[in-house]
Amino acid sequence: MSMKRFITLEGGEGAGKSTCIAFLRDYFLEKGLPLRLTREPGGTPLAEEVRDLLLRKRDEKVAEDAELLLMFAARAQHIAEVIRPTLARGEWVLCDRFTDATYAYQGGGRGLSVERIAELESMIQGDLRPGLTLLLDLPVQQGMARAAARNEKDRFESEQNEFFERVRAAYRHRAAAEPQRFRVIDASKPLADVQAALKAVLDQWLGQQS
Ligand SMILES: Nc1ncnc2c1ncn2[C@@H]1O[C@H](COP(=O)(O)OP(=O)(O)O)[C@@H](O)[C@H]1O
Ligand SMILES: [Mg+2]
Repeated sequence: MSMKRFITLEGGEGAGKSTCIAFLRDYFLEKGLPLRLTREPGGTPLAEEVRDLLLRKRDEKVAEDAELLLMFAARAQHIAEVIRPTLARGEWVLCDRFTDATYAYQGGGRGLSVERIAELESMIQGDLRPGLTLLLDLPVQQGMARAAARNEKDRFESEQNEFFERVRAAYRHRAAAEPQRFRVIDASKPLADVQAALKAVLDQWLGQQS
């Protein structure tokens, strides 16, 4: 079941996801549409604790499957406690990263197989899929430069350049494979241009029959 009211925002480090969430919150507010903003990994107290486990830098090597399962453990909790109940009330959900990020980071970045991720996706989500996915795309270096201004790097942000190139490639590959769900936004543009592009996509999306 792909849900019209379930929207996800994706992109690499520093792409502008958090910045755009604020713009989209105002957009929905202006339209008078109830919107639940949330993020992954996280979105509930338990899932935020799992996020902390995932992002914290540690000496121990994190096994790729352990990372993958923690992502889906957090997601299972988030879906059960936030996403499904919110959608069931007829409200909108805007999530800062979702399963496409798992395909991009654990798949593209770490090299786990698409099949392995897809198995967990169907196990944990059943037929729940976002109806619309906004991919903020920009060159890795540009994103890193923007993100550099932020606080100390987490476990993912500390990866090498090639890792982020694989993440970006995986995102773009997924977008090309599912053009009906993805809208790719050129996030290298000034913020006003990015916001105008988002507004155009949302105007069109809200204008469609459900
Ligand atoms: N289109 C843009 N042009 C220039 N700077 C931007 C743009 N979008 C976001 N930024 C800046 O880049 C930094 C990272 O943005 P952020 O929204 O935190 O990215 P993300 O959540 O995707 O990692 C912030 O300092 C933000 O102000
Ligand atoms: Mg962010």
